Amino acid sequence: MEKIVIQGGKELTGSIKISGAKNSAVALIPAAILCDEISTIDNVPEITDRDALIEIIELLNGKVQIENNKMQIDASNLENKVIKEELSSKLRASYYFMGALLGKFKHVEIYFPGGCNIGKRKIDFHLKGFEALGATITEDQDKYIIHAEELKGNKIYLDFASVGATINIMLASVKAKGKTVINNAAKEPEIVNVATFLNNMGAKIIGAGTSRITIEGVEFLHSSFIEVIPDRIEAGTYIILGALLGKNLIIENVIKEHLISLISKLQEIGVDLKIEENNIILNKVEKLKPFNITTLIYPGFPTDLAQPISVLMTQCEGMSILEETIYSNRMGQVPFLNQMGSNIEIKNQTAYIKGKTMLFGNDVVASDLRAGASLVIAGLIASGTTKITEISHILRGYEHIIEKLANVGADIKIIEE
Ligand code: EPU
Repeated sequence: MEKIVIQGGKELTGSIKISGAKNSAVALIPAAILCDEISTIDNVPEITDRDALIEIIELLNGKVQIENNKMQIDASNLENKVIKEELSSKLRASYYFMGALLGKFKHVEIYFPGGCNIGKRKIDFHLKGFEALGATITEDQDKYIIHAEELKGNKIYLDFASVGATINIMLASVKAKGKTVINNAAKEPEIVNVATFLNNMGAKIIGAGTSRITIEGVEFLHSSFIEVIPDRIEAGTYIILGALLGKNLIIENVIKEHLISLISKLQEIGVDLKIEENNIILNKVEKLKPFNITTLIYPGFPTDLAQPISVLMTQCEGMSILEETIYSNRMGQVPFLNQMGSNIEIKNQTAYIKGKTMLFGNDVVASDLRAGASLVIAGLIASGTTKITEISHILRGYEHIIEKLANVGADIKIIEE
């Protein structure tokens, strides 16, 4: 079994370059099949979620070429096939093939998506959106059959500003007849990245990044280029780490506007953080004030950074409170942090974190992607050895995490045990 092994307590110095955003790349890759020619996506992170999506495109007879982080997808001979459970269940983002195949062929057969077990993750808003465009949906065990004789633009209101539903409805409607309006759309930067890619293909999308997106259907989507935006969650994870262990640790390739909620909070509690054009430089300080966070949709504090920031809270002097509002089960790191010496109590979806506590290395389990990232941070600040199992969750979302951390002085490696 593969394990990450960390000897904690090492200062981190040097530079970490942020990769392309996982949650953009996993939508851009399925979006590329809407194009009838060759599309190029640059800055794609080398993560296992990428590989799972390539497998699906190849099943559909698409051709994929990758050189460094540049990916070319040739969808000119795409065939519509059932996306089997063994492929769809590898990741959440397999659901973007629903919108993309519906938009392209007006017919999709796909099994329920997988992804981290962080609570109920329904897709009812996606399905309601497809229905509003004229599709009928049949659920056969865990398989969805989505079919439309014709896709027609419509006005859609999302009960919750869901990232996945917003992107999926954009994908399904770019070639629909007439105008689609998504009201209460999600505003995350990843949505803007996907809309820009589709517009580069000839789509007519206005308003991405606001809560009202308008899509005027077009008939043909031509070859296109896009660069994946830097990963704000990966950046946030390393910024948090720098606050705890940095000695002039430079986090490079950051779009600081995407991280305002994190940066402002860190400045408020006394983190030594310097902001340059595209870099953030961190130095460890001895005393940090306790603080409270409630996760929210963008531009609020991102749920994906709640687990990493819970580790920082264990190092603040006093009681910090972390309320998770997006997912019902996103505290998988807490029992393991407590095993390492933290003092965290959970009531409903709120963690009460009493600091400052010393952390000690232990054997822990990465129950999901961001829980795994938070255990890496905990292992790096703890004294002694931490061994993390179920590391496939971590490798799904953080490009070259071991190399990036080892390069700045961390004692971290993967072993087979
Ligand atoms: N929801 C519904 N019905 C729907 C869609 C969503 O009830 O049809 C609920 C979900 O159950 C959840 C909430 O709405 O409680 C948020 O869901 P959203 O659709 O916004 O999230 P997502 O698209 O499934 C993406 C990211 C997540 C990230 C969220 C929020 C991908 C593949 N996943 O998920 O990333 O937490 O947006 O920003 O893009 C991660 O990277 O660790 C991760 C979980």
